[in-house]
Amino acid sequence: MQDTGKLKKLVDWMRESTHTVIFTGAGMSTEAGLPDFRSKTGLWKAKDPRKLASIEAMYKNPEEFYEFYRMRLATLGEANPHQGHKILADWEKRRIIQAIITQNVDGLHHRAGSNRVIELHGTLREALCLKCKKVYGSQVLEGGGIPRCECGNMLKPGVILFGEMLPQDALYQADLESRRSHLFIVIGSSLEVSPANYFPLQARDTGAKLVIINMETTIMDEQADLVVRGKAGEVLVKVDDLLKNNL
Ligand code: APR
Repeated sequence: MQDTGKLKKLVDWMRESTHTVIFTGAGMSTEAGLPDFRSKTGLWKAKDPRKLASIEAMYKNPEEFYEFYRMRLATLGEANPHQGHKILADWEKRRIIQAIITQNVDGLHHRAGSNRVIELHGTLREALCLKCKKVYGSQVLEGGGIPRCECGNMLKPGVILFGEMLPQDALYQADLESRRSHLFIVIGSSLEVSPANYFPLQARDTGAKLVIINMETTIMDEQADLVVRGKAGEVLVKVDDLLKNNL
C-alpha cells in the first residue's frame, strides 16, 4: 500500500480514536540534531553504554562518565524542537492526542509546548543527589571535575542509567495511558529497550491499534497494525496536513 494510503488510514484511525497515545524514542529528536543510539550513526555504535551510562560507570570511571554527559548536555544546548514536536503539542491542544510517553531525556516535547509528557527515562534537565535526594538544575554538571551535592555526595544526571529502576510514577502513568489507548503510535524507536518496550504491547493487548513510524525496521513491526517507514518530522507534517484538509 502506498505511504499516502497508509497515512490516510492512520488519519482515519486518529479520527475514530477517543484516546490516542504517542510513544517516542530517540528517532523523534534526530531531526533536531540529537543522535540516536542504535542506528548506524547512533551513540552506542561508538561507545559501550554499560561503560558510560550506568551507575557502575559513574563510580568506577567518573571522569569519562561526566565527560559523556557534559557532551550530551552541550549537544542538547544547541537543539530545538522541530516541526514534528510542535505538531504533537498542537494535537494535544486540539485534543487529537491525549498523552506522550517518551524514552527521550532531551525535554524537547516540553519545550515544544506538550504538557501530558511521561518521561520514562528521566531528564537531562536535572541532576540529583542519591544520598539526600536534593534535585539541581543540570548546569551543576557543566563545570569540570566531579559535581557534588551540598552534602558532599556525587551528583547523578537526572536520567535513568542502565541497571537503574524506572521512576515508579512514570511507569504507573504510562501503564494507565497504554491501557486506556484506542490508538498507540510509536515514533522513532527501535523498541529494543525494556521495560519501555512493554507499553506498545500492553496497549495492543488491551485493544489498541498499534502504529509504528520509524526509519528502520523494529523488533515489533510484525505485531503492529500499521508500519510507516519514514522520518518522524516529515511524516507528522504529512499527517497533520491530511487531518487539517479532511483529505
Ligand atoms: N525518523 C524516524 N525514525 C528515526 C529517525 C527519524 N528522523 N532517526 C532515527 N530513527 C529511528 C532509527 O532507525 C532507530 O530505529 O529511530 C530508532 C531509534 O532507536 P534507538 O536508537 O534504539 O533509540 P530508542 O529506541 O529511543 O532507545 C531507547 O535506549 O540507550 C537507551 O535510554 C536510551 O532511551 C534510550 C533507549
